[in-house]
Amino acid sequence: MLSLKGLHLRSGVLQSPLAACTDLAFRLVARRRGLEFAFLEMVSAHALVQRNAKTLDLLKTLPEDRPLGAQLVGCDAGMMGEAAAIVEELGFDSVDVNFGCPVPKVTGGGDGAGSAMLRQPERADAVFAAMVRAVKRIPVTVKMRTGYADPTGREAVEIAKRAEHHGLSAVTVHGRTREQKYQGKADYEAIGRVKAAVRIPVIGNGDVASASDARRLMEVSGCDAVMIGRGGLGNPWVYRNVAAGLGEPGAEPYAPTVEERRDALLEHLALEEKHESAWHAVVTMRRVSCWYTAGIPGGAEFRAGFCRAKTSAEQRELIAGFFDRAAPAVLVAA
Ligand SMILES: Cc1cc2nc3c(=O)[nH]c(=O)nc-3n(C[C@H](O)[C@H](O)[C@H](O)COP(=O)(O)O)c2cc1C
Repeated sequence: MLSLKGLHLRSGVLQSPLAACTDLAFRLVARRRGLEFAFLEMVSAHALVQRNAKTLDLLKTLPEDRPLGAQLVGCDAGMMGEAAAIVEELGFDSVDVNFGCPVPKVTGGGDGAGSAMLRQPERADAVFAAMVRAVKRIPVTVKMRTGYADPTGREAVEIAKRAEHHGLSAVTVHGRTREQKYQGKADYEAIGRVKAAVRIPVIGNGDVASASDARRLMEVSGCDAVMIGRGGLGNPWVYRNVAAGLGEPGAEPYAPTVEERRDALLEHLALEEKHESAWHAVVTMRRVSCWYTAGIPGGAEFRAGFCRAKTSAEQRELIAGFFDRAAPAVLVAA
């Protein structure tokens, strides 16, 4: 159970925003297997305010794709406020601001958006105030790293206190600095320092792919909920398994068979075909097929052939053939 303003979630196991991964097809496949709350990937506040067609396409959703949060990236307070109001108008259940993205195009020379905001607390104040002022109903949250370069969590603590002061409903902390990018292990103790500093919910993030990872994150940091990123790729059962491991009421663990893994991959393909342009679907499925076939004998050869396929129909046949050959052993889910 996690309550963010008027948004009451049964489960404290959430899907993080993942650029080019957590699209509509991904979310629908995951929701049908136990995911409750998802984020779609970050979008530029500036592009949204301009009503950029590509940005609006990234935000497409369906009634069964709920509850759903949108995430904005930007550092101009006025623009962030305007974009947050648009997110609410579009019907999303929450709006998040990205203080974690390490990409130079976003962070600029360290005085731009994403993780660079960790070093600009006054600017963060202005962004938080503008976003909270701009929305009427939905919760405003921030997702950040533990610091820009400082691994102690000091910068995240400062930003979290300011977020709380301005009325944000929760903070998510990925236990790595901007400099670490995705290297090393997420530091759950640094997340714990943020948890100790604020009263609003703290959502822990980083390296959670199983129930035992989630338990360790919660025990070490004391965080209120967990956000799964890469652990959801090719494993849409992970949310229910983590929820069950955390003792959430009604959550039962589930170990999918090879056939169920194939069916989830085929379902993903059908949804990409339905909701994206033909070529976009083909290219996306190259990535998605890698997630689902990792660790299955013969996977590398399959993936090499799959990447040469030019149509969804060809891809569908290759998937069916590969899984027919794969041993029908039960795969142990995370
Ligand atoms: C491919 C990829 C895309 C990502 N895109 C976003 C994004 O759009 N917004 C965001 O806040 N974090 C983004 N992240 C960071 C993740 O949400 C998450 O914080 C990070 O991967 C750590 O969690 P994990 O170890 O569970 O994956 C991205 C990470 C990856 C690997």
